[in-house]
Amino acid sequence: MIHNQTIDHQLNHRSIRAFKDQSLNKEQLTTLYNATRQTSTSMFMQQFSILHLTDPQLRQQIRAISNQPYVGDNGDLFIFVVDLYRNQQIRQQLGQDDGRLHTTDIFMQAVEDTVLAVQSFLTAAESMDLGGVILGSIKNDPAKLVQVLHLPKMTMPLLGLQVGVPDQQPQLKPRLPLKFLAFENQYPRDLNVADLADYDHDVAQYYDLRDTSRRVDSFTKQITGSKLNSGQPTKRDELAQVLHDQGFALDWN
Ligand SMILES: Cc1cc2nc3c(=O)[nH]c(=O)nc-3n(C[C@H](O)[C@H](O)[C@H](O)COP(=O)(O)O)c2cc1C
Repeated sequence: MIHNQTIDHQLNHRSIRAFKDQSLNKEQLTTLYNATRQTSTSMFMQQFSILHLTDPQLRQQIRAISNQPYVGDNGDLFIFVVDLYRNQQIRQQLGQDDGRLHTTDIFMQAVEDTVLAVQSFLTAAESMDLGGVILGSIKNDPAKLVQVLHLPKMTMPLLGLQVGVPDQQPQLKPRLPLKFLAFENQYPRDLNVADLADYDHDVAQYYDLRDTSRRVDSFTKQITGSKLNSGQPTKRDELAQVLHDQGFALDWN
């Protein structure tokens, strides 16, 4: 296998959830923004924005929604926003109607841009010996999230990202062996769960710093457990409605 600085940083990725009491300085911030800005963007439409939450009250509100104690604690907190508002404004101010802006297709392109931006930002941060964690938990209550951030229609907060100087050293979390996820030409339908036994064993050895009292469940146990079980309805089930309320994907019902 080839090794270089970029590859080694990627191979070394692990989420960091505890940070030193030290904010990013201006140079670090500018570097991260500029590295992210250059990320590939679908049809060159640049449909994402980044909100840097420095207001303690806002950070506290995001922590309450996420229900994860480290969210909005030490480290800089960013919210990555699916942003069709900017292009809607450009069209409207130049006398065009909204055209395809409310289609699922354009919404998906904006989601794609936003997700890529998050990973670019995190990769850049890790290359600077910072650490970070992506936060889907900000969408635990999507309507409240939009309201707390005072976001206009045609925007939707997609992911949080907390970045800072690591104050923990988590284990590397083992990923699926390549034979389960990288295929040539044809997608195989013959998955046999029993073949995952070795990987299950590896995952069960992983020590999750979020819950220091126990190791994590094996992979198949996680997939057959509460992550995907249908349980009580939650605010997360309201996501499609909130997306529609924000003006997105109106052709998808
Ligand atoms: C889209 C996305 C959302 C995530 N949301 C959260 C989150 O809300 N809280 C959290 O602690 N980690 C979150 N993570 C981090 C994952 O838990 C983590 O990447 C995964 O367990 C693998 O661990 P590693 O990143 O340390 O290798 C998220 C990751 C992704 C890609």
